[in-house]
Order: sequence, then structure tokens, then C-alpha cells
Amino acid sequence: MKLGVIGLGTVGEGVLKILTLEKDRLEAMFGEKINVTKVCDLEERNFPFGKFNFTNNYKEILADEEINTVVELIGGVGIAFEIAKEILGSGRNLVCANKHLIATHGKELFALAEKNNVKFFFEAAVAGGIPVVTPLKEGLFPNRFERIRGILNGTCNYMLSKMEEGMSYDEALADAQEKGYAEADPTFDVAGIDTGHKISVLAYLAWGELKEFSSIPITGIDKLTKEDIEKAKAEGKRYKLLGEAFKEEGKLTVRVSPQLIESSELLYDVGGVYNAVEIDGSYTGKTIFFGEGAGMDATASAVVSDIYKVLASRSWN
Ligand code: HSE
Repeated sequence: MKLGVIGLGTVGEGVLKILTLEKDRLEAMFGEKINVTKVCDLEERNFPFGKFNFTNNYKEILADEEINTVVELIGGVGIAFEIAKEILGSGRNLVCANKHLIATHGKELFALAEKNNVKFFFEAAVAGGIPVVTPLKEGLFPNRFERIRGILNGTCNYMLSKMEEGMSYDEALADAQEKGYAEADPTFDVAGIDTGHKISVLAYLAWGELKEFSSIPITGIDKLTKEDIEKAKAEGKRYKLLGEAFKEEGKLTVRVSPQLIESSELLYDVGGVYNAVEIDGSYTGKTIFFGEGAGMDATASAVVSDIYKVLASRSWN
């Protein structure tokens, strides 16, 4: 496998770190070498764990015919969309963590991957290190899904926990940014947009319907005041930013809003950067996934799991 990595931010660094530290063990497990052929970002970065062949021009990676699998970690839907179309359209595999891209252009990209018989994996797009995309697609598919709801943004959940402990909104946001949890533009986190992207992707996997993103009602945590949070605490409750999707009378609803959670609910105890996803299936009943929803190592673990899924499929010439 010859790999190109585009985007060396928090997650990109984590991916190169895991691929380097776990190389021998993972290659032995899959019986195939992974060669990180080229890595790209706007500026060169040096890492303590290894040296990589660097370019600041992502087009060099697209043009390199040796590279059969690309990991896109720049996010957004500008250059990332061009990269996705070019890679899948030219018969190469794509791994990304880009929920925004899938929530807005997923249908076109899934069709392109299918047409060209290549792999397009995005485990890290939802709930960071928690494997929820693959279990939903491959483990829970016999079910008719009734409802999905979850805490899907690590930054907001971390901020709400810290604000409950007495931190101000601005301090809590700066702390989450410093820890590498927040999006490049943290408005996506606090305004609920990132949660909207993620619940939309989960709804697509469960019901095969990708909502027009602008039709999804979204309220973030940016309107919650310290008083709201203190009042909830005094009543033994907590605010959690929830993404919800359910189908009633054939109509799919996807929405995002902060909700008051009672202490008797499991979601009440999901604190800090943790995420939780509840999936109600007709045969399984409620299945709950819980784990770190953001951050370098957890998210990179999900990306690397996708790289190895491509490897296991041997989808290249
Ligand atoms: N900014 C996102 C979050 C990163 O805080 O959950 C993981 O998708």
C-alpha cells in the first residue's frame, strides 16, 4: 500500500505517529507493508517519531500514480471535495475524517467510489475514536432503526463540563482548543454545526437518506448562559448538546439542540471530551457506544483503522 496524507494538523500528526509506532505489529497482522509515500501541508512539520517525504502542494500527491490510497485530513468542502472527486474518480481509495464533506457531498462521493470499485472509509468522521460508523453499517444492519441520538461533539461536551465546574465560556473554549478538540473554526462546534454533520451522516447510514443540510434545525451551546448551567446543576440536571434522528410515519427528522438531561439517564454521566451514541434497533433494542469523541490519538486511531480496512481489502492494482 502506498499512502499519501494530506493535512498534518492534530489528527494528521496522530495518524503518522500511530502508523510509525505500530508499524511492525500492524504489518505483521495484515501481511502487507504500508509505505507513507508523501505527506502534505501548507508548511513542513517535523515530528519526533520519524521523517516523511514532504510537499506543500497537494496536487503532487494527486498526480503521483504510485499512491493508491489517500488520507484527507484538511477538512472543509473546498479543496477536500476536489481531492475526494479526483482520488475516487481516478480509481484510488480515500480515507477521511471529514463529516462536513460527507454531510454535504456524500451521495455523489459514495456513487463515485462504487462506480470505480474503490474504498471510501470515514470512521473518524463521527465520534472521534469510537468505532460507530462501521458497527452501524456492518454490525447493526439487520435492524430497522427507530432512533439515534448522541453527544457527538467533544468540544461542546468538554466545555459544558468545565462550565459546570465554574470556568467561563471563553476559558472553556480556549481550553478545548488548546487540547486539540475544536474545529479550525470553533463556531462549527459551539453553534452545533459539527453535531449536525455527524448526526446527518449517522442518519444516512441508518436510513439511506441524506438530509439537505440547510433543512436541519440546529441550536448550539453558544446561547447557553452560565446561569442556565448553574440552574440545571441546582436541579440535579445537566445540559448536553444532542444530535437526534428518527423516522416517524415515513418522515426522517434530524435535529440538534442542547437538552436538559436527568441524572437517571446514562448520557448524564458522559462528561469531558467523551461522546456517546445510542442506536435503537428493532431487533437489538438500544445499543450504546461510548468513548473519546475528539483529540489527536483517539481520532487518529479511527483513521488508522480505516487505512487497515483498505489494506485488508487489497483494493489497488
Ligand atoms: N471538533 C470535533 C469535536 C472534533 O469536538 O467533537 C471531532 O470530530
